[in-house]
Amino acid sequence: MTTLDSTVDYDVLIPNNVALASDARVRRGLERWHPGYIDWWMDMGPDGFQTSDVYLRTAVRVESKGADKWAVFDYVKMPDYRWGILLAPQAEDRTIPFGRHVGEPAWQEVPGEYRAMLRRLIVIQGDTEPASVEQQRFLGKTAPSLYDMRNLFQVNVEEGRHLWAMVYLLQKYFGRDGREEAGELLRRRSGSDDAPRMLGAFNEETPDWLSFFLFTFFTDRDGKMQLESLAQSGFDPLSRTCRFMLTEEAFHMFVGESGVTRIVQRTCEAMAAAGMDDPSDVDAVRALGVIDLPTIQKKVNLHYSLTLDLFGSELSTNSANFFNAGLKGRFREHRLEDDHRLLDATYGILEPSNGARSNGGWHIVQHPALNALNARLRDDFTDDCNLGVGRWNKTIRQTGVDFEITLPHVAFHRQIGVYRDLHATPDGEIVPEDEWSRRRHEWLPNDSDRAFIESLMKPEFRPGHYASWIAEPRIRINHKPGDFEWVKLAEA
Ligand SMILES: [Fe+2]
Ligand SMILES: [Fe+2]
Repeated sequence: MTTLDSTVDYDVLIPNNVALASDARVRRGLERWHPGYIDWWMDMGPDGFQTSDVYLRTAVRVESKGADKWAVFDYVKMPDYRWGILLAPQAEDRTIPFGRHVGEPAWQEVPGEYRAMLRRLIVIQGDTEPASVEQQRFLGKTAPSLYDMRNLFQVNVEEGRHLWAMVYLLQKYFGRDGREEAGELLRRRSGSDDAPRMLGAFNEETPDWLSFFLFTFFTDRDGKMQLESLAQSGFDPLSRTCRFMLTEEAFHMFVGESGVTRIVQRTCEAMAAAGMDDPSDVDAVRALGVIDLPTIQKKVNLHYSLTLDLFGSELSTNSANFFNAGLKGRFREHRLEDDHRLLDATYGILEPSNGARSNGGWHIVQHPALNALNARLRDDFTDDCNLGVGRWNKTIRQTGVDFEITLPHVAFHRQIGVYRDLHATPDGEIVPEDEWSRRRHEWLPNDSDRAFIESLMKPEFRPGHYASWIAEPRIRINHKPGDFEWVKLAEA
């Protein structure tokens, strides 16, 4: 029944809108991959909740049409979630939007000369999807409410679906190599010594719910930036895949931003109720059972700097090659007004004026824009982050507390790129290494910060109740009231 349509065929093992029914080779390949995926989900997916009924959103079409919404909500046991292969509809007469092939018809098949590059892009994107599920697998046990637990699981099943999306591209377009890569995506594990995930931030722990909200705010937002760039791809199946993933990704941004908003709101309200106006009196604020703002700032510093590293080196010939080839564009390339080839363009990168060791300040150095695409995407990311940070600060201001959350300097706590070998404070002052090490815990969480946050991570599983450190949500999901039973916990 289904062709390259916006409706999804659910009468099959692998729901899809890509006519798998008439593509026996790919269908069989995916059916063979399916049991390994379910094993991975049972092993590495949310621990302890696989038999609970979760009020989940499932995509039923790839765009809303009038009253027909793109997704439906219902109780689902996570292992029964219908992970499907969903591509945004094919745009008629789409052309390659950038690079040396700009204006030529978009590719429906893999261009032979770019096969290896394209496969690498898909594998790197694919590897991040299961990684975050692995990082978050124990968080359900300490959920501050059933509402938050449900949101965690929604993010998790959708990351699982994003893995399916990349595996589909690998199996459909890369034959035997693609099947091997699809297998490897199930073999690597976040934080593993012998088979880690490919990118650093995806091997870090997500030990508590503040980390989870900051991860979805920052690291899922890196995902959004990457997907936005890949959605521009001249390889049309990749573009269509990423376009639909972005529809789901918007919810992940919401979870992160609103989660942190609710935490700072609760902290500020508790301070106001106790007549406290000094946010830096950390012990007094903590005694109220809420997370003090300076510790939230330290966690922001950590997650932001780890996520910046995901953009790679500021100057990158790989990224220039991806762009020239028409495989990976810029953030919202279609809205930019230039030649889309970057033949003579330059892009400024902030560099230390007198080298890495002296604090001679910073200046902007112009580089060929083609080589600076990673820096540009990272700067677009920072702009996007600042919109959310501004809304957190508005929440703080409204309570009358005098504190502002800020993103640290781009050079702070970096492991990759031009800032790697220098030691910068969050204000961008370059200091000697020993000073940086000595002051490190003014800026990043220390053991006692971590222990305090951990002490708050107690489950609150009664419908309509919330842990002491987080405010009730203001935004409803599918019009349901706050005391809705978002997860029906299975009897132990
Ligand atoms: Fe994702
Ligand atoms: Fe995500």
